[in-house]
This record gives sequence, structure tokens and C-alpha cells, in this order.
Amino acid sequence: MGETVKKIILNDGIEIPAFGLGTYKMKGEEGVNAIQAAIDTNGYRLIDSAYNYENEGTVGEAIRRSSVPREELFITSKLPGRYQTVDKAIPTVQESLYRANLDYYDLYLIHWPNPIQDNYVEAWQALIDAKKQGLIRSIGVCNFLPEHLERLEKETGVKPTINQIELHPYFNQATQRKWHEENNIQTQSWTPIGRGTDMLQHTTIQQIADKHNKTTAQIVLRWHYQLGTIAIPKSSTPTRQHENISIFDFTLEQTDMDQINKLTRPDGRVNNQDPAVYEEF
Ligand SMILES: NC(=O)c1ccc[n+]([C@@H]2O[C@H](COP(=O)([O-])OP(=O)(O)OC[C@H]3O[C@@H](n4cnc5c(N)ncnc54)[C@H](OP(=O)(O)O)[C@@H]3O)[C@@H](O)[C@H]2O)c1
Repeated sequence: MGETVKKIILNDGIEIPAFGLGTYKMKGEEGVNAIQAAIDTNGYRLIDSAYNYENEGTVGEAIRRSSVPREELFITSKLPGRYQTVDKAIPTVQESLYRANLDYYDLYLIHWPNPIQDNYVEAWQALIDAKKQGLIRSIGVCNFLPEHLERLEKETGVKPTINQIELHPYFNQATQRKWHEENNIQTQSWTPIGRGTDMLQHTTIQQIADKHNKTTAQIVLRWHYQLGTIAIPKSSTPTRQHENISIFDFTLEQTDMDQINKLTRPDGRVNNQDPAVYEEF
């Protein structure tokens, strides 16, 4: 349950649960029911969404129907590439809030750096302003490379609290994680269990799962937790939501961690989305 998920203190002093729910493709009544089950039945407190998932309304409705007070939840959304200008970014945050019918987001992230478009510093300044206006408690980014992160701090004086990046056993981001640690930026893992790849059937992970009497998803999610990253697995299935969050009663040995770390490969991204060149609007 939620009580067993520890909290992490971000570089701005805000506390975030160390584990959460992804919601990509969770929409409408089905989405509301699934997210409400995650909150009420399965103890999730951190819910990740995005303007571009077109489900901020679904998340907001699940929050309203749930029995958990708003202030005990930690809700995230993200700014799309097409609104990364100073005139469009704050109205977009406001539109996200109207859609969710919330007064504030706990976390708002720039969804992609879109370095060819090159508006991310302007968008970052807008998020700094939106935080000052009380629309957002904590501000961060997704898919930023160290060069993008350095520029944000250099040009605005404000460092992101979180960088949400693709991270799973096939692409473990060791170098970027180390950079985050050295610069006091929290890593969050997207596609943590590989979104439909063969990762959860991998023999190495299956052998570790058998040894600990856990499922392969639980092994991978515990690996994230022991790396110190915040995993946000998506599941519309309440029994899987329960399975995924039930990772706090066992520990992987260093040899297990090493074996999983060895599964990474340079072409391990699920969709070949390299933030140096990929852009999303
Ligand atoms: N910032 C970004 O650019 C970015 C990019 C991608 C994703 N994200 C965020 O990260 C979240 C997670 O990533 P993701 O949705 O791409 O992939 P994921 O969480 O790695 O995988 C989700 C898939 O795994 C299935 N699943 C869940 N638990 C399972 C279990 N215990 N056993 C077997 N299968 C299981 C789900 O099916 P069911 O739902 O049917 O159970 C779903 O098909 C997203 O939902 C989104 O919030 C952010």
C-alpha cells in the first residue's frame, strides 16, 4: 500500500513518492476506473500524465472520485513541444489545470527538449514563472541531455528537480544517471518495464524472479528502486497495479543488480527516440 512507498526530497525541498503510476493511453471512463483503483485499492499516490496524453481530465476525475485527499496525491503533467514559447506555455499550464479541474500540479515537466526547435530555455522560464504564480509546486523536464540541463541552469539560474528519461534494463542510462546524481537532479524512469517488449520474458530476469519467488515485473521494478530512480509503470489492470507496487518486502543482491545491469545495449531504446535529434510536438 501507499504507506510503504518512501518519499524522496527533491532539490527544491518538495517531497515526491519514490514510485508511481504511468497513464499513457489511459482515458475515458475505463481510465478513470483504473486510476481510481490504483489510488484507492492499490495505494498509488504519484500519478504521471501529460497534455499530449489527452487524459488530464481522466486523471482529475479519478482524483475527485477517490477517497484520498488531493494534498496526499502527487500529480504530474507535461508541456508539449508546440507550446514551448513564453506566450503559449503559461496558458497551456492553465489549460492543463482546467482540464483536470485542479488548482495546482505537484510537478510539471517540459516533455521533450526539441533541440532543433530550440525553445526549451524560453519554456523553462515560463515554468519558473508558473511556479511563482502558484500553478505548479515543482518543475522539471523529460528527455534532457546533460548539455540541455546545463544550459537551463546557466541561462535562468534554476535547475530542474527531475529529469524523466527512458530507463529500463535494455537501456539503463548509467552515464546520465551518474550525471544526475552529481548534479542533484532526481531521475524518473519512463517505460520502466519495457512496454510490451520481450524484457519481462528475458531468461536472466526470469531466473532472478524464480530465485526470489517474485514476478519478472517485480524484479525489474525493484531494480529501479535500488538504483534510486522513480519508476512509473503504467497498468490499466488493478491486479498488475498491485503486483507492480508490491516490491518493498525483498531486496535484490548485488549480483542480481549486476546481472540486470549487463542487459543494457546501445540500441536498447524501445522506439529509437534519441533526444539529441528526436522532436515531439
Ligand atoms: N516523458 C516521456 O517522454 C514519456 C515517454 C513514455 C512514457 N512516459 C510515461 O511513463 C509511463 C510508463 O511507460 P509506458 O506506459 O511506456 O510503459 P511501461 O510502463 O514500461 O509498460 C506498460 C505496459 O506493460 C503492461 N504491464 C503493466 N504491468 C505489467 C505486469 N506486471 N506484467 C506484465 N505486463 C504489465 C501494461 O499493460 P496493462 O495496462 O494492460 O496492464 C502496458 O501494456 C507512461 O505511461 C507515461 O506516463 C513518459
